[in-house]
Amino acid sequence: MTAAALLAAPHVPVLLDEVIAGLDPKPGETHVDGTFGAGGYTRALLRSGAHVVAFDRDPDAIAAGRAIEAENDGALTLVQERFSRLAEALSEHGVDQVDGVTLDIGVSSMQLDQAERGFSFQADGPLDMRMEQAGMSAADYLNQADEADIADVLHDLGEEPRARRVARAIVAARPISRTSELADIVRRALGHRPHEKKDPATRTFQAIRIHLNAELDELEQGLVAAERVLRPGGRLAVVSFHSMEDRIVKRFLRERSGATPAGSRHLPDARAGGPRPSFEAVAKPVRAGEAEIARNPRSRSATLRVARRTEASPWGLGAKKEGRQG
Ligand SMILES: C[S@@+](CC[C@H](N)C(=O)[O-])C[C@H]1O[C@@H](n2cnc3c(N)ncnc32)[C@H](O)[C@@H]1O
Repeated sequence: MTAAALLAAPHVPVLLDEVIAGLDPKPGETHVDGTFGAGGYTRALLRSGAHVVAFDRDPDAIAAGRAIEAENDGALTLVQERFSRLAEALSEHGVDQVDGVTLDIGVSSMQLDQAERGFSFQADGPLDMRMEQAGMSAADYLNQADEADIADVLHDLGEEPRARRVARAIVAARPISRTSELADIVRRALGHRPHEKKDPATRTFQAIRIHLNAELDELEQGLVAAERVLRPGGRLAVVSFHSMEDRIVKRFLRERSGATPAGSRHLPDARAGGPRPSFEAVAKPVRAGEAEIARNPRSRSATLRVARRTEASPWGLGAKKEGRQG
């Protein structure tokens, strides 16, 4: 599938069967979909007879989902909110504990498809990249930030090995307002390498998007929120697309299942009289098979981790922060 065809395709849920098997929804249970998107997971949860409270920080995703909400006669509640605030938002809807939480991290195909959202370097659009459509845009950030700060973002969140060179080129080209301008600046700074499969602008776009939307902080706080609202026996399923995200999920679950001592000064070792494991020992991560990758190339980099909540109290916040987001 060409990049253009991929962008024109509707959002295809990744690892859908595996996510639903991990969540094991039953009629009458309440599940949280923290990343509604096009509603792929939510629809499957509703088919199982569960009630679903679905969150998305993007007002367009929520607006597009209203039709599914109307069709489902009270079984679906849509909330425009960040999943880091899911515990507070559930409580505002009279829900304290739930049977499942799922997070499918990153952007949706709808967000990438729409050039005017500014997420894609494949189509020209305003340099925006705000999932919530509010706050600082990518253009605001790149036109104001220090060169050193931009370089750190590109290095830490895009794993761009030549971050300083790209940051210097961005600052020299300011002001920048279009995605195509930014993509060209990066390509010129890094040089054209036709044999390279990945566009050199990929890492820069990823880094700026993750930074602007504070995606790693959101993930850390979303995991803590899920721990807080899951009832004993409740299931957590997280799909991530980058090693940075997966590291956060893996470390969180390893610590809280007692598989490793807490990697933090602030939390005592569970095996030395600290908090009891809040999740059961975690199964191996799940990746897409050849058939799914052929059908949906986006699934190639997806990793699913599933874990079951114990009856122990939540550990809450306190684990050491990783990465540069504050
Ligand atoms: C990969 S898509 C989810 C696709 C969905 N599972 C489906 O099957 O259609 C990610 C969605 O999560 C939303 N999102 C990303 N981070 C979020 C956050 N911190 N809080 C709430 N929604 C978020 C994005 O706006 C996007 O719509």
